[in-house]
Amino acid sequence: MTILVTGGAGYIGSHTCVELLNEGYEVVVADNYYNSVPAVLDRVEKITGKTLKRYNCDIRDRNGLKKIFSENTIDAVIHFAGLKAVGESTRLPLMYYENNISGSVVLFEEMAQAGCKKIVFSSSATVYGNNPIPYKEDMVTGDVSSPYGRTKHFIEQILGDVYKSDNEWSISLLRYFNPIGAHESGLIGEDPNGIPNNLMPYISRVAIGKLPQLTVFGGDYDTKDGTCIRDYIHVVDLAKAHLCAVAKILGTTGIEAYNIGNGKGYSVLDIITAFEKASGKKLNYIIGDRREGDLPAFYADASKANTQLDWHAQYDIDKMCEDTWNFQTKNPDGIK
Ligand code: NAD
Ligand code: WQD
Repeated sequence: MTILVTGGAGYIGSHTCVELLNEGYEVVVADNYYNSVPAVLDRVEKITGKTLKRYNCDIRDRNGLKKIFSENTIDAVIHFAGLKAVGESTRLPLMYYENNISGSVVLFEEMAQAGCKKIVFSSSATVYGNNPIPYKEDMVTGDVSSPYGRTKHFIEQILGDVYKSDNEWSISLLRYFNPIGAHESGLIGEDPNGIPNNLMPYISRVAIGKLPQLTVFGGDYDTKDGTCIRDYIHVVDLAKAHLCAVAKILGTTGIEAYNIGNGKGYSVLDIITAFEKASGKKLNYIIGDRREGDLPAFYADASKANTQLDWHAQYDIDKMCEDTWNFQTKNPDGIK
């Protein structure tokens, strides 16, 4: 079985490529390296002792995709390629709509042309907006606060329409919660350009001395310690969920959404404490103002993925912090 992984050199994509290769799949990666480097794929090959096929291809490039589908028999696609910075999407909405939505439409058209109608799509818990917690898949989605989040909601809707128009499609929408951690080899992990927007890479750069101080965004929320609650999920657990989803779509048709989270909520201070334990370092942080757009608390009801995909998260926040720190210390200047 051959899987096309768009955005396969990125953070979640690279970990998924490792799991796919370990499971015996043939892997073809299409990435334009906008937010990654080809060396990540060398490391995937080093970890697994297997090779994958790679194309420097933008998913908006129709001819590039045609070449991939004509040179390979693709059984299913895992679609990670996209821009993901929430704040940037507010400043540059058209760039996000063009890359994420136009790119996805071109990809889906070329899949249909090639007769490949099986896809796992990287969606996000952000589509739930301000729903009561825990989030469940049958809640109304789309009350989203950022253009980035709207791209995820719109692409889910587009795939819904695609399925309605042609019941041969088999589509899995994976709504990720907050992925953190790294492969335990320390060879691949999250390696954002510039100053990180997300909590975990920020913490680990403070711990290693690359950034002076973490600001905790808000200490006056109505939560157990006043800081926001999120559902953190180890990236390797998340990667494995893609294998479960691929197994499912290969044998069925239809469209289903699944929450991929631990089902547990941890506060920012919980994460800081776990990180201090894992790294043996005292973290320099202050409690600052709330960040605009942040919800006080959300976490998953992951029971649908547990029962229907037979997927279960294995790793706790201690392991997530240990693996993040291991990656950070082994790659103080990132992956070159
Ligand atoms: P990432 O930026 O590390 O990986 C995305 C990859 O896609 C990068 O390698 C980038 O170069 C590539 N890419 C971007 N636009 C492309 C294009 N037009 N053509 C080809 N390649 C392109 O991000 P990630 O954290 O691995 O996220 C993967 C997917 O999961 C994204 O769609 C993201 O929105 C989604 N997601 C991420 C999170 C998270 O917190 N990391 C949470 C929910 C959903
Ligand atoms: C986590 C917590 C912050 C940085 C985002 C997207 C979401 C999904 C995952 C893609 C929050 C706090 C953070 C800092 C802090 N991505 N924080 N100081 O905002 O839950 O989710 O990434 O789909 O769509 O919105 O993740 O890592 O930015 O924040 O106190 O310097 O850490 O307030 O409570 P978030 P995050």
